[in-house]
Amino acid sequence: MDEHRVHKVVLAYERGWLAFSLAMLFVFIALIAYTLVTHTAGVIPAGALERVDPAKVRVEGPFAQPGVIQTGPNQYTAYVQAFTFGYLPNPIEVPKGAEITFKITSPDVIHGFQVEGTNINVEVLPGEVSTVKYTFKKAGEYRIICNQYCGIGHQNMFGKIVVKE
Ligand code: CUA
Repeated sequence: MDEHRVHKVVLAYERGWLAFSLAMLFVFIALIAYTLVTHTAGVIPAGALERVDPAKVRVEGPFAQPGVIQTGPNQYTAYVQAFTFGYLPNPIEVPKGAEITFKITSPDVIHGFQVEGTNINVEVLPGEVSTVKYTFKKAGEYRIICNQYCGIGHQNMFGKIVVKE
């Protein structure tokens, strides 16, 4: 083989591997995209940003009468206030096996909304509505914990969810 021919062969070989690498890169990106779309791996996706006037949370809108309302055959929305230092309503009563959409906001400072024994764990910011969906498979009582430092009563800020049969 003359040098020119060797060079051509090497070039074709390199091109082949380059094409292969690009194809693999594409496959991996496609797989990641597919996984993101079809699986959440236990992570609750963040809801769309929804704003509310923190000064009016207690006087008007759905948060002024915090509570659980039925929105479908087996669907409920719980409007929850996280305030210094507690949650409203308390307890939050929901049925077992139903899809519960928690909508939580704060009329004052940043709080947390973490529910023991579940993967519910969201930040609650004044001016924003945090949305998280959950279906309780077991009846019983679940403690709500504030995991954002919010002031002098932070360590005593708890709530309760009662899941009924
Ligand atoms: Cu509310 Cu810490």
